[in-house]
Amino acid sequence: MKFKTTLLIFGATLLFTSSVQAQTSAEALFEAKCASCHVKTRPSDISTLVAPPIMGVARHVKMTYKTKEEAVKFITEYTLDPQESKAVCMPDKLKRFGLMPSQKGNVSKEELTTIAGWIYDNFGNQGQGQGRGQACKEK
Ligand code: HEC
Repeated sequence: MKFKTTLLIFGATLLFTSSVQAQTSAEALFEAKCASCHVKTRPSDISTLVAPPIMGVARHVKMTYKTKEEAVKFITEYTLDPQESKAVCMPDKLKRFGLMPSQKGNVSKEELTTIAGWIYDNFGNQGQGQGRGQACKEK
């Protein structure tokens, strides 16, 4: 009985630790591959932005794709092969920032699946950011 309990606790700790690690490595990947352009918090001076902050991107993705699976697929495909016709953000954002350069060669499909799932889980929920997808709309 006591041994079983110990095992259980050990198992639970392992599970917990590995999910925390997955979270950390997804975030680290985002930092390494995406954060140079997509900031995670809105800066006070938006004129310094080179791309829409990630919560704005996530909001628009979620407005268009209802399931995590579809959203992850979209983010992965767009990042490797950005096209104006596929974009879910506002057209004037494309005008302001220009089309995202393809990240092919910079990030692998597997890494992208991890990053995209993390973006989906952490950004673009109701009440986050300011107003409806403003990050993508601002001039
Ligand atoms: C060199 C700068 C740069 C890097 C690095 C970058 N992006 Fe972007 N990204 C942009 C710009 C600029 C836009 C806005 C224009 C557009 O939508 O194509 C954008 C838009 C997006 C969009 C929204 C597409 C839409 O529907 O309009 C997604 C999703 C995205 N990026 C994901 C990523 C991910 C994931 C990474 C990291 C693997 C990444 N980006 C790295 C510049 C970048």
